[in-house]
Amino acid sequence: MKKITIAIDGFSSTGKSTLAKQLAKHLGYVYVDTGAMYRAVTFYAMQNAYVSEDHLDKESLIKALPTIDLQFHFNEKLGFAEMYLNGTNVENEIRTLDVSRCVSQVAEVSEVRAKLVASQQNMGKNKAIVMDGRDIGTVVFPDAELKIFMNSSAQTRAERRYNELIEKGQHVTYDEVLENVQERDYIDTHREDSPLVKADDAIEINNSTLNKEEQFDLVLKLVEERV
Ligand code: DC
Repeated sequence: MKKITIAIDGFSSTGKSTLAKQLAKHLGYVYVDTGAMYRAVTFYAMQNAYVSEDHLDKESLIKALPTIDLQFHFNEKLGFAEMYLNGTNVENEIRTLDVSRCVSQVAEVSEVRAKLVASQQNMGKNKAIVMDGRDIGTVVFPDAELKIFMNSSAQTRAERRYNELIEKGQHVTYDEVLENVQERDYIDTHREDSPLVKADDAIEINNSTLNKEEQFDLVLKLVEERV
């Protein structure tokens, strides 16, 4: 069977990673969550006081980039790869609302994007990969055989993210999660470098009305047409 590249882009909390994990498992492909990479750089920048909610020391962050090592290590028990920052597992630390509040500022920095895009292209050079993010079908793999663009209402997405954070024991309110989702939508779609846009050849899925299984079946058919 032909190996392909699957690019999944879309707004935050549209279920990109759920779909990507299902596909990767079913096809025996590698799954790469590029949001985790932007989050890990952000966590590093927060630890070094390069970024906070209302401040970014861009120059120091750019200078520090060569010292930031990002690796994915597959966790057999969980069934997906976890994010390691300079040798430490930061999978939990990068999923907080605090990191979500700073990540868009960091993701706007072209030097950060260049470093992460190069690493993502390297991970996908042999195909058989499912990658999710904001610029996968437009910048990272413009020639991907299958491009999906996911969307749903900000309210549906905030509810999803809120439930995830509460399940993890974090103290957040629905309103602050909704505000963060809307703010990130705005910054992600308006930044100068690689803004979030649907690639011309991407297939749009609005999953406000589709359940997980229906969505998976629909995308699997698209994969089968291409392999
Ligand atoms: O998918 P996520 O919510 O974990 O991503 C976190 C942030 O990282 C998101 O607000 C925008 C940024 N991002 C990006 O700019 N490009 C990507 N390919 C992936 C994420």
